[in-house]
Amino acid sequence: MEPLKADWQKIDSYLKVFSQITRNFLSELDEKNVAEIGSQLKQQPVSSNGKGFNQALEFFCDHIVPQLSAGRGPRYWGFVTGGATPVATFADWLVSTFDQNLSSDGDSIATEVERQTLRWLCQLFDLPDTFDGIVTTGATASNFLGALCARQFAGLQQNINVAKQGAYGLDVDIFSTTPHSSMIKSLGMAGLGQNSVKLVDALPNSEAMDVEHLTQMLEQSSAPGKIIIASVGTVTATDFDDLVTISLLSKKHNAWLHVDAAFGMFERLITGNETKSKGIESADSITLDSHKWLNVPYESGVFLTRHLNILFDNCNVPAPYLTSNVEKPDFMSLGVENSRRFRALPVWMTLLVYGKQGIASWIQSNVNLAKRFAQKINESSEYELILPCQLNVVLFRPNCSGLSQPDADEKTSNFLRMINQDGRLFLSPGKWQGKRIIRAAFSNWETQKEDVNMAMDCLCDIVKNYSDSL
Ligand SMILES: Cc1ncc(COP(=O)(O)O)c(C=O)c1O
Repeated sequence: MEPLKADWQKIDSYLKVFSQITRNFLSELDEKNVAEIGSQLKQQPVSSNGKGFNQALEFFCDHIVPQLSAGRGPRYWGFVTGGATPVATFADWLVSTFDQNLSSDGDSIATEVERQTLRWLCQLFDLPDTFDGIVTTGATASNFLGALCARQFAGLQQNINVAKQGAYGLDVDIFSTTPHSSMIKSLGMAGLGQNSVKLVDALPNSEAMDVEHLTQMLEQSSAPGKIIIASVGTVTATDFDDLVTISLLSKKHNAWLHVDAAFGMFERLITGNETKSKGIESADSITLDSHKWLNVPYESGVFLTRHLNILFDNCNVPAPYLTSNVEKPDFMSLGVENSRRFRALPVWMTLLVYGKQGIASWIQSNVNLAKRFAQKINESSEYELILPCQLNVVLFRPNCSGLSQPDADEKTSNFLRMINQDGRLFLSPGKWQGKRIIRAAFSNWETQKEDVNMAMDCLCDIVKNYSDSL
């Protein structure tokens, strides 16, 4: 192996090779299987001398690249994932080139770019400038910070500084209706317990909170610490909790209100701030996800709070050689990581290049396409639409009329497996009122009508293949 320093002499050839890989991958994305089911990595021991770039590259291009998914492409409709615009993709490339550490201020402008990004996001979503926060690795990380802040706040109501002395003796009730699984995970990681949520009833045929039930539960709660976890866009039915009422209740009962708005917040860009997410301005903390509907590469989430001091209490780095103060805290004292990538850059670029209108136009297009797909499913005799499409997620299953629930569930799982193996489409499973269902989530800026047509062709072929396989 040649000395590493000499590697920089080869920058032009590296740029050429990596550009070529990029170009090939992007240009073949449309023909590529959306998911590479059953991919396998050829095992080999760690190299002692290094294989050198050419050999490593050959292995990488032959064995790894072909087995990657087209997750950034227009027909990956599993979970809620965005793609990545060209601007965000290459801004992210530059993040590695620049290799800045955004742990603290004082050695570059990068931390100011992160602060500006956070301010711009508040402006994008019409949130008051009392919100501040940090760019995280994703919505799970943001929900974790939400759980930490809520825990700290609950502790302060009973003279326990949890960050300093631990959670021993903490008495807290947590209320939620349809928390995302990452929120449950976060409550566990924060020591509040995955099983600790007191489930508030949902409204009929909905995942949104029944606020009358919440009112009763809050009134009955004798815990000095209270936390409400609300949703702006539940992951299955895309329901929105009534935040106007919930935020008033949180004030009345001195409860911390955390809102998981990972993707649902983007709905504001097409209907404004007086509609489904109205009231979120009064939340104590908010989770957003840029690697979903903002279409920047993974890992990019956002945590916002109106109580930066509480976030600081949780995350402050108490080392004598590091100075951070609560007036202008360093980012390492606001999040999990001390050393941090310049992951704000692709978000900053996206906001600057496309602006509110540009971003809103792909949100609207995704919503239109989801509704179009739902309509086609509804018109098809071979599939059942489970719920009218409200935003960007379509819930359906194969026609299961006459089948018992276990048989219907099995048929649904078999269909999903066959759809994902087909390669034209990738969807993920879900549950609606006990039934297994299939979810299609539209959040990729590149998805077009033609993709919906291709998806329907795929679904028709699966019906035929399924009958043939019986
Ligand atoms: C509402 C909601 N919250 C949180 C998450 C977790 O997001 P991430 O995978 O970015 O951690 C998701 C992911 O789909 C989500 O839809």
